[in-house]
Amino acid sequence: MKRKFNPSEKLIQQAKKTIEVYDNKVRRLITNHPDYFPLYTENGKWKHGKESWTNWCEGFLGGQMWLLAKHQDSNFWREKAEHYSKLLSGREFDREVHDLGFTFWPTWRPWYLLTGDQKLNDVVIQAGKTMGLRFNPKSGFLRSFLAEDSTFIDIMMNVGIIYYAAEQSNDSELRQIVDTHVNQTRRFMVRGDGSTSHEGIFDLKTGEFLKQTTQQGWRDDSSWARGLAWALYGFGTCFSYTNNPDFLDTAERAADFYIRRTGERFISPNDWEEPNPIVPYESSAAAITAAGLMQLSQLVESDEKAKIYSDYAFNILDVLTREFTSKIDDNWDGVLLHGSYHEQKRLGVDESVMWGEFFFFEAIDRLLGGEWLAKNR
Ligand code: GLY
Repeated sequence: MKRKFNPSEKLIQQAKKTIEVYDNKVRRLITNHPDYFPLYTENGKWKHGKESWTNWCEGFLGGQMWLLAKHQDSNFWREKAEHYSKLLSGREFDREVHDLGFTFWPTWRPWYLLTGDQKLNDVVIQAGKTMGLRFNPKSGFLRSFLAEDSTFIDIMMNVGIIYYAAEQSNDSELRQIVDTHVNQTRRFMVRGDGSTSHEGIFDLKTGEFLKQTTQQGWRDDSSWARGLAWALYGFGTCFSYTNNPDFLDTAERAADFYIRRTGERFISPNDWEEPNPIVPYESSAAAITAAGLMQLSQLVESDEKAKIYSDYAFNILDVLTREFTSKIDDNWDGVLLHGSYHEQKRLGVDESVMWGEFFFFEAIDRLLGGEWLAKNR
């Protein structure tokens, strides 16, 4: 049974006001830069010449448009959502990235759900099957975009689409692949305290897991907040497909780690271990966590735990909507302030980031009763 959230009227009003900011800022982006897919702002501007590192954010813009079409009930946004989803055509076969869940689940999936058109569903299923081709049978991992012997915790947020593809096409081999990757990630990338490693390196010859490393965190042995948020949300999603209690337990341990280490600040840093961070907050990790906690509060058995998770998510959203949201009439292109992409490479530090924009909106949608990314919404 779906639990009902009870946010305060004040928070609901803040959330609705934030949707108005989205309407304004996304409209501004697509007017100024039609058919352009940004990753992060530079001094508050979406269009700049800086490196993207990888090509993974294209679904987040269309995803915001589908949410705007839902909340603003507007033909304008529905037409734009279809257009920006169509621009992704062909990417369902893209083998260069490990992010096809990010690309197709927020875009072609709602499109399919709203129309029932099987051809749209086939594209979502193909994206899941293409993700399965990243599997290395020796190591039991799906490889990252970066190198053949590397896997990322971020992939946990992209495995839902593989479970979906396996289920829809009755493909037991694909199901075996995704189960194996998730179990291997749990075994080698999640630590005893619930924290997660960003990257794992395995031996290509033997498949042996060699070490935990990082790309976007502070150190190989530290705790990169966004990676933990992907794991928290992703393992919850895996539980919703499998009912495997180990996956729920892993999601809960990640949630408990976030709460324990962040406390009443609510908004995590980029890495909990970093002694002198460049900036104190990484708002996109907090937005993903808020959405993941709301999902988790629907999955756990105990009402008491569910309330701890949803209350914490409301607190995150209270801070984000009051203190981390840009103003309609300011000069900043994004909605969510103080996110960071890649501190080590100094890309998009203390800026707006496209996944932060999407997951903040998705969390707001959940707060208002939606379940945009849920398996059975
Ligand atoms: N590499 C995906 C992320 O920045 O979360």
